[in-house]
Amino acid sequence: MNAKSTFLPQEVIRHKRDGAALKPEDIEKFVRSLTDETLSEGQAAAFAMAVFFQGMTREEQVALTLAMRDSGDKMDWSDFGAGAPVVDKHSTGGVGDKVSLMLAPMVAAMGAYVPMISGRGLGHTGGTLDKFESVPGYNVFPDNPLFKKVVKDVGCAIIGQTANLAPADKRLYAIRDVTATVESIPLITASILSKKMAAGLAALVLDVKWGSGAFMGSYDEARALAANLASVATEGGLPTVALLTDMNEVLGLTAGNAIEMKEAIDFLTGTLREPRLEEVTAVLAAEMALGVGLVSSAEEGLEKVRATLTSGAAAEKFAAMVTALGGPADLLENPDTHLDIAPVAFEVKAKTSGFVSAMDVRAIGNAVVKLGGGRVNPTQKIDHSVGLSAIAGCGAEVGPDTPLCLIHDTDQARAEAVAQDILQAVEISPEKPPYKDVVGERIDGKELI
Ligand code: URA
Repeated sequence: MNAKSTFLPQEVIRHKRDGAALKPEDIEKFVRSLTDETLSEGQAAAFAMAVFFQGMTREEQVALTLAMRDSGDKMDWSDFGAGAPVVDKHSTGGVGDKVSLMLAPMVAAMGAYVPMISGRGLGHTGGTLDKFESVPGYNVFPDNPLFKKVVKDVGCAIIGQTANLAPADKRLYAIRDVTATVESIPLITASILSKKMAAGLAALVLDVKWGSGAFMGSYDEARALAANLASVATEGGLPTVALLTDMNEVLGLTAGNAIEMKEAIDFLTGTLREPRLEEVTAVLAAEMALGVGLVSSAEEGLEKVRATLTSGAAAEKFAAMVTALGGPADLLENPDTHLDIAPVAFEVKAKTSGFVSAMDVRAIGNAVVKLGGGRVNPTQKIDHSVGLSAIAGCGAEVGPDTPLCLIHDTDQARAEAVAQDILQAVEISPEKPPYKDVVGERIDGKELI
């Protein structure tokens, strides 16, 4: 009898259902059968629900993460030299979050390698992969040799996830999605980290968002997720720091795809840098450099990060990456020639004058989805040209002559309907609200284990 035939998934599920901690070898066998599909969808769903209610110890989560990491291809950067500074960032997702577009070239300009495997938009949040698909010719799915070559030659490559990276997660996530088991901290942790660990990184930085536009609404929930992610990753062999960042307002001035790409280009060239976006990006970049030992303190990191912007080195890296992956060589010089951004169809004017004091950021993200810039179902084609620009942030003064935002759309009636959602999503008060810090706590995984 072989090992596979002695494995009884129903016993693993029963143990978890009853609150026992599973042995690492049982978790490994379970994940193997999830991957080779000898495990039924019903069994995977029952397991996910058992974990949802009973949770998992850190040891179980490490075992689940590593087993899912090992279920498919793993990137190997050993030919870049021993201790090569290979580092990435993962964000839990937000609205207007174009941080990765600038961050990867900034960190590459500091001497790191950033193989960034990004995802599509999920629910009301945007996705880096969708943003790059708005660049004509840019190949978001290069083969592995080209991906490696661009990372080696340029220092960064932002691409989409290949089918065989953590396939166990792919199957389990699809089942969780339809069985109300997505919102489980151990399952979210293993899902995110298995993919990042398969990318063969030396260090990871997490941007865990909290607030009305984040998956984790409350600061405490986001903090619990951040601490769990950082400690499980670090214990699993990937040194990880998490930063909590605010998603109670849209990040930057735009939300959409081509329109966010344009904001990222303006940021890199120095045409326009919205301060909160700049702060989040700079702090994350400094942490990444620190994580792989390119600087010896966060302060030194911040100084070097800023130098990549003022010298134009980050902009050069971005341009080199775009060209190496098939995009236009003059995207930075002539973004408007290449990016298809719909004309302004509607100016959303506040009904009363005052200051923006709060936003339902999820509703604003959903407004972009309603314009066609995000998906209602996973296979839907999106319209990269639509979106919002000149979004007034918290503290901005608005009135009859100063809009809350501009809606870019080719369909006037739709834009007017979506404007109503935005008006409802934004609170105006007569007094200017106090400034709220965008970057919160820093959680270092190694301090938790
Ligand atoms: N993103 C992931 O990749 N996995 C989850 O479980 C949740 C968000």
